Amino acid sequence: MKKHLIIGDPVNHSLSPKIHNYWFKKNNIHGIYEKITPRLKEISNIINQIKTGNLHGINVTVPFKQKVIPLLEELSPTVKKTNSVNTIFKKEGKVYGDNTDVFGFSLALKDAGYYINKKKALILGAGGVAPSLVVSLYNLGIGKIYMSNRTDSKLDNLIENFPNIEKIPWGKFEEVDLIINATSVGLKREDNLNLNYDKFGKNKFFYDVIYNPRMTNFLKEAKKNNHKFVNGKMMFIYQAQKAFELWHGFLPKIDGELIKLLEND
Ligand code: ATR
Repeated sequence: MKKHLIIGDPVNHSLSPKIHNYWFKKNNIHGIYEKITPRLKEISNIINQIKTGNLHGINVTVPFKQKVIPLLEELSPTVKKTNSVNTIFKKEGKVYGDNTDVFGFSLALKDAGYYINKKKALILGAGGVAPSLVVSLYNLGIGKIYMSNRTDSKLDNLIENFPNIEKIPWGKFEEVDLIINATSVGLKREDNLNLNYDKFGKNKFFYDVIYNPRMTNFLKEAKKNNHKFVNGKMMFIYQAQKAFELWHGFLPKIDGELIKLLEND
């Protein structure tokens, strides 16, 4: 039995077990995928189970994406750029950390038919997922990235690695084409960023990394103001698909049944 885990806090909302267990079944893989919230000091034991072969794969979500890095033996080039790990497995005998969020976000934007080339983006939030979005946007040829975060020091740390990002004070605006919610605000249905949405202008593209719930208040505002909007569902599916490939050697199919399965939540 190939065992897999997602570690995160909170992790209850995660649909990763559902998606991977679906693919195991579809592809006759004798596997299981569970979710847990470990205590910080338990994480090194969990990761060690990759080394011993007791665990086949681990996904990592907030707030551990950066914290696991010192516990790994080798890092992918994307992890070195983002400082963020979401997929762990054993590669050539070593505990290896990779990042499939960058891939997931790039494909999700293509999927939405949105072309990034030379555009301007405002990213709200400088937490765990933000560097993956930044690397993705640079790969796709973004013209300019602005970023805003409630806590200044966290944004300053991130910008050290990405000096071309321009800092915007929280609650202030810039004329941009694309507005991305990379905060955790929206995970609870009643969550609200309390932005002045009128300031964004018309015909923009709103992207929320959150996929559960499907319509955050951020996206509801976008809809109300006739902007194009997309939630994090396809990013989530594509990052999972890539993680599956790293663990099992092939890309599993994203079919209608899977999409439906995830819609039921
Ligand atoms: P963290 O980085 O704290 O480990 P995360 O989920 O990766 O956790 O990031 C959460 C993001 O949502 C951060 O950008 C956080 O802003 P702070 O750096 O100020 O904490 C942002 N966030 C969470 N709650 C928020 C709120 N009520 N208003 C604005 N931003 C919020």
